[in-house]
Amino acid sequence: MGTLRRYLYPWAKSGVKVFDSDVLVLGSGIAGLYTAIKASEQFQVTVLTKKKIEESNTEHAQGGIAVAIDEADSPTLHFEDTLRAGAGLCDPSIVRILVEEGPTCVKELMDIGAQFDRQNGQLALTREGAHSQRRILHAQGDATGWEIERALVARVKESPNVTVREGRFVVDLLENGNGDIVGALVLNEETGELEGHLASAVVLATGGLGQVYRFTTNPSVATGDGIAAAWRAGADLMDMEFVQFHPTTLLIANAPRFLISEAVRGEGAFLINAAGKRFMENVPGKELAPRDIVARAIWKEMNDGLVYLDFRPIGKECILERFPTIYQTCLKYGINVLTTPVPVAPAAHYMMGGVATNSYGETSVRHLYAAGECACNAVHGANRLASNSLLDGLVFGSRIVERIRDKFQATRPSWEEVVGPEGGVGDTGIGIIGARKQLNDQSLRNQIQNLMWDNVGILRNEAGLKMAAELLLAWEQDNFFISGVDDLETANMLTAGVVIAKAAFKRQESRGGHFRSDYPLRLDGLWRKHSLQCMEGYYVRYVPVSGTD
Ligand code: SIN
Repeated sequence: MGTLRRYLYPWAKSGVKVFDSDVLVLGSGIAGLYTAIKASEQFQVTVLTKKKIEESNTEHAQGGIAVAIDEADSPTLHFEDTLRAGAGLCDPSIVRILVEEGPTCVKELMDIGAQFDRQNGQLALTREGAHSQRRILHAQGDATGWEIERALVARVKESPNVTVREGRFVVDLLENGNGDIVGALVLNEETGELEGHLASAVVLATGGLGQVYRFTTNPSVATGDGIAAAWRAGADLMDMEFVQFHPTTLLIANAPRFLISEAVRGEGAFLINAAGKRFMENVPGKELAPRDIVARAIWKEMNDGLVYLDFRPIGKECILERFPTIYQTCLKYGINVLTTPVPVAPAAHYMMGGVATNSYGETSVRHLYAAGECACNAVHGANRLASNSLLDGLVFGSRIVERIRDKFQATRPSWEEVVGPEGGVGDTGIGIIGARKQLNDQSLRNQIQNLMWDNVGILRNEAGLKMAAELLLAWEQDNFFISGVDDLETANMLTAGVVIAKAAFKRQESRGGHFRSDYPLRLDGLWRKHSLQCMEGYYVRYVPVSGTD
């Protein structure tokens, strides 16, 4: 075992430009911006984001946001569907919070300015996999995330209490001598200088890590930076073996794995195999079975040839109205979905695990909160129900603000109390860019992505997981130089990969997004428990699922 790496980079305290605020929000997707807006009612808030403010997984969300608002629906039905999809690993008390507080948060989101599609004056609702009701709000057909992000960004920009700084890469979390998180060490990508952003409360909302896989629906920013930084700061990570593979992404040579929303199947599209036969007909739920089941069924079918999604049962008018982005994108790649089935394949989509939190977003490290995809409070269990993630960002982002209010300390941390790196580069003050030899290596990134896809992907087994975990750990603990953001991301991807592979290796059963071909059964007696890992010792421990379904 190599040395533990508390900081990604050997920085020094002097020469770092220091900023402070009451609340520091890291990330600008739905969880980050909604938390910032709520917190700004009372506090001075800084939002840091590594690229432009709109660049996040949220912006790419198509299907929508699940919420029980229809007369025929109820939070109880939404609760039951979420638990069923979660394959025995949801915490029922947390799911209850999601479904009961969700409608109020969605109303607030609409008050902020998000406009959802309507039909005859009423909010239009669609259906997705494993939902017993039509309860998915959508916007501009299939551009729901874009619309939500637009509204949140507009509100944040007009708020005098929120300062947004773009092009800021969070290198690591900072702590004081008592082990409290007091801020973040940040790389200003424009100047190449290090900045110290201090705050009384730090909220991680850095999103997911789909980029650790060769094929993903996630944008290039989703490299697991917040999860890896929390890990280095000593926070517990929970349920990291549970990665969701979205069943239907565009499978065309030289095209990105563009998401083809589950709502397409919700509106009636069929999956067909190379022989033109529907192969989900005998599976309970058919095309709308839980995501993990549909993804594996497609994967299996692909042994015998391509799998296609046939839009034609939906009808031209509905396709054009509900799925304009998908229609245009497929057309750009030469496929007219009005007439021709589209080749599809699964790709990494969502991390159910993340930084372990309670129902108020508190992590195992004081003053560090986490919300959205980088967090895990067991609301999604082993397999997230479609369109519950945007709701999760709202509900638990809002609860973080409640808790910050309760615990707020008016005295902001000072730079003097920040614990600097042991064995850093001395008191000279340095910028990251330029001084160091290049680690990166697009090839290292490619190797990680291939290794993860081939061995820690949709189907897993002991030999592959062991090999992947050992190799990734060896790479992670190699001494490498960091010369810029690409290298920092690659280092974080390595950390994320190790943690996923180790948890997946240890779990000798199949459940939700984790499928072991050598242990194909779900074993509740032995494995109905959450995995926890922290950097200390690199071992996986377990805690029971709280409550009963
Ligand atoms: C989709 O539109 O299929 C994705 C929605 C989600 O991930 O919940």
